[in-house]
Amino acid sequence: MAESTESRPEDRNRGWLDPRATLLSVSSPELARSPDRPSGVDLRVSVGSVRLKNPIIAASGTFGYGVEFAHLVDLNALGGIAVKGLSLEPMAGNPSPRMCETTGGMVNAIGLQNIGVRAFVVDKLPELRKYDTAILANVFGKTVEEYVEVIRILNDAEGLAAYELNISCPNVKHGGVEYGTDPVLASEVVSAARRAASRPLWVKLSPVVGRIGVISKAVEEAGADAVIVANTYPSLCLDPHTRRSRLGSTTGGLSGAAIKPITMRLVYEASRAIRIPIIGLGGIERAADAAEYMVAGASAVEVGTAHFVDPRASERLVGSLEEWCREENLFEISNLRWSIRS
Ligand SMILES: Cc1cc2nc3c(=O)[nH]c(=O)nc-3n(C[C@H](O)[C@H](O)[C@H](O)COP(=O)(O)O)c2cc1C
Repeated sequence: MAESTESRPEDRNRGWLDPRATLLSVSSPELARSPDRPSGVDLRVSVGSVRLKNPIIAASGTFGYGVEFAHLVDLNALGGIAVKGLSLEPMAGNPSPRMCETTGGMVNAIGLQNIGVRAFVVDKLPELRKYDTAILANVFGKTVEEYVEVIRILNDAEGLAAYELNISCPNVKHGGVEYGTDPVLASEVVSAARRAASRPLWVKLSPVVGRIGVISKAVEEAGADAVIVANTYPSLCLDPHTRRSRLGSTTGGLSGAAIKPITMRLVYEASRAIRIPIIGLGGIERAADAAEYMVAGASAVEVGTAHFVDPRASERLVGSLEEWCREENLFEISNLRWSIRS
C-alpha cells in the first residue's frame, strides 16, 4: 500500500455496525455532541496526491454537475463531487423509462446522457469551482481517441482535482466489448489516458470481472493513480403482466444497498492486489457503510443512489461519519483504512 496502514485504536469493544449511525441520525438528539467527549475528529484523507477534507464524494451520475444541488446542499461540506460522465459530444441518452426501483436498490439505464465536455467547461465548471470541494471530472468515450480528446479539452480548464475514467463502456472498435472487462483493453485505454492527462487519473472499474485483482493490477501498471470500485451491475427488471422490460433500453445497471456486500468483496480483493489507493462505491447509505469500505481497504468512498432518497445524503453522511468516529473514539479517520482484522 502506498499510504500508511496504522491499525485501529484498541478501544473498540462496541459493535461498529452501529444502527444509530444512519443518514438521518445527524439531526437525532441522542447523537448530539456530548460535552465530555473531544469534539475534534480529523476527517481528512488523501487519495494519492489529492487531499480531501473528508472521505465522502458524491458519485457520478447521481449528483448532476454539482451546481444543480447548490440550493439544497452545502457543497463546501463534501469531500468531493464527481460530475456526470462527460463525452466528446453531447448525448441524449436512452429512451424512457430509464429507472426502476428494486428491492434494496434501483436499476438505471440513463445511457450516459450529458451536455458534452465543452459545454461542461463553459457552462458548469466556472460556477462549480467556486466551491471548496474537490471536483472530479468523470470521462468516457466509445474509442480510446475519444477518451483522450475529452481529457485534452479538460486539461485546459482550471479547477479540477482529478479525472475519473469510466471504463465500463463498450469499445466500438472491438465489437462492443467493455474496456473494463478485459485487462488488455483496460490497459490500452488507461495508458493512453495517462499519457494525455495533466492531472491525477482515477479509474472507475466495472464490477463484472472474473478477477478484480487482475484488472486492478493491469490498470495500476498502465499508470492509474487510484481505482474506484465499482460501477453498477448489469440487470433486468420485467413486468410479468405486460411481459416487457421496465426500462426503455431493456437492461440496466443495479445500484444501491443491495450491491454493497458484493462490492465490498471487490474492494477487499483489489486492496490485496494493488498499491494505489482505492475509492469504495456501492450501496453506501449510513456512516457505518462508509466505515466498512475503509476497513476493507478504501481511502475514500463515493455515494450514489442514496441521493435519490435524500439529495442531502452525502452532506448528512459527513456529519454522521464524524459522529460515528467520535462514538468509536477514533479521532483520525484515515486510521480506519485497511484495518481489517483476520
Ligand atoms: C442514475 C445513475 C446514473 C449514473 N451515471 C453514471 C455516469 O454517468 N458515470 C459513471 O461512471 N457512473 C454512473 N453511475 C454509477 C454510480 O456512479 C455508482 O457507480 C453506482 O450507482 C453504485 O453506487 P451506489 O450504489 O452508491 O449508487 C450512475 C448511477 C446511477 C444510479
